[in-house]
Amino acid sequence: MEMKETRIERIQQLIDEERSSIHTPQEATIIQKMSQLLDELRSLSESSSEQVVTPWTVHGTIDYRKMIEIFGCKEIDESLIDRVERLTSRRAHVFLRRGFFYAHRDLDKILDCYERGEKFYLYTGRGPSSESLHLGHLIPFLFTKYLQDAFEVPLVIQITDDEKCIWKKLKPEDSKRLGRENVKDIIACGFDVKKTFIFSNFDTVGGSFYENMVEAGKCVTLNKIRSTFGFTGEDCVSKISFPMVQVCLFVRVCVYYASNNVFSIHLQAVPSFPSSFPDLFPGIMDKLRCLIPCAIDQDPYFRMTRDVAPRLGYRKPALIESKFFPALRGKNGKMSASDANSAIYLNDSAKDIKRKINSAVTGGRDNMEDQIKYGANLKEDIPFQYLSFFLEDDAELEHIRKEYGEGRMQSGQVKKRLAEVVVEVVEKHRNARAAVTEEMVEEFMAVRDLSQACLSKETRV
Ligand code: TRP
Repeated sequence: MEMKETRIERIQQLIDEERSSIHTPQEATIIQKMSQLLDELRSLSESSSEQVVTPWTVHGTIDYRKMIEIFGCKEIDESLIDRVERLTSRRAHVFLRRGFFYAHRDLDKILDCYERGEKFYLYTGRGPSSESLHLGHLIPFLFTKYLQDAFEVPLVIQITDDEKCIWKKLKPEDSKRLGRENVKDIIACGFDVKKTFIFSNFDTVGGSFYENMVEAGKCVTLNKIRSTFGFTGEDCVSKISFPMVQVCLFVRVCVYYASNNVFSIHLQAVPSFPSSFPDLFPGIMDKLRCLIPCAIDQDPYFRMTRDVAPRLGYRKPALIESKFFPALRGKNGKMSASDANSAIYLNDSAKDIKRKINSAVTGGRDNMEDQIKYGANLKEDIPFQYLSFFLEDDAELEHIRKEYGEGRMQSGQVKKRLAEVVVEVVEKHRNARAAVTEEMVEEFMAVRDLSQACLSKETRV
């Protein structure tokens, strides 16, 4: 069944279309009423606990097992983690060994290749939705950094400034500015400049021309383009997006015919094909495989990419996928940049961090007596979950799990320990970010040959 979200958006489109042909004040009032009703419907749907996961929306009670089943990926089991440890001769990252990165597609095949001495490259990305990143945003990058170090492989990072321009209704220049600020945070995670290429979609696809394509595309719905050109659901997305290219070619400004955001969907797919980067991987493009670390909500993009790959004679990209980083205020959904109090930002002060952690949802009991009697419900306890991300020391985590879970520790103590750990992570990041210069940004974003990074140490020239 079609998702509720999609249906609501379709009604929104219909209302928007009606709005463009209003003739009388009565019609205007009706349209306004319809909009209000739709808003109500939307908030009703958001408050329901049904699981909704798309690259743009995550809410409801999330059943990660079920998600694997629906999407058709595989669970990462102990033997796969052991194999990663053996091949990289190092302990698996806490996010992997504690089950946060929990699903995959073809990770075993990547390991087979690696074992034979063939390299791969990593591809990940970020949609710049806010000026400063929050802790949840940092997680895929910390994990990607571990993968880069452990396997000694090159990495490409896509900044989808076009995506956020479309979904967050930002102007291209604002989205590009946020993107560049986010790049500094990404660099501060410690990536190796010799092995890492960061690129902005706006700059890579084609400057002002592409900016106009995106802006024009925002003005025209899929319904409009279908009725204007007679396209059907069977027409390929390249056909649907072509009118927008044509419009920009002739007029170079926003006019009528354009399709809606189909381009951003191709754009997230193509960095999975090494031949998209002839200057980065000269001579080795046909040999390289691609591994994508990402959160599970990005799976639909890459499911589609994997369907397309063999038809173009390319290899399917492999994936290693994480759960969502929980919001401070609740067990459902993920930490969101659009709700300042649900997230700890990397530019929050130590005081803010402590205040936010103190307001987090806990699984501790209402009073001391019950806490001692029943112990905390760790599954619902956000501070404990956060500790399992950021407290490296397995023995201390285990100690807290036992003491807190069996009632010998109070939630205040857990929050206090968490605040110490998080303040340390955030301060370390802040210092590293302060050291990132504009020149470093240029260096990471310069197109250059990374093929040396694909060779093993012994064969590098
Ligand atoms: N769409 C992602 C976001 O909104 C950004 C992204 C682009 C991405 N390419 C990717 C994420 C590849 C993971 C892997 O943040």
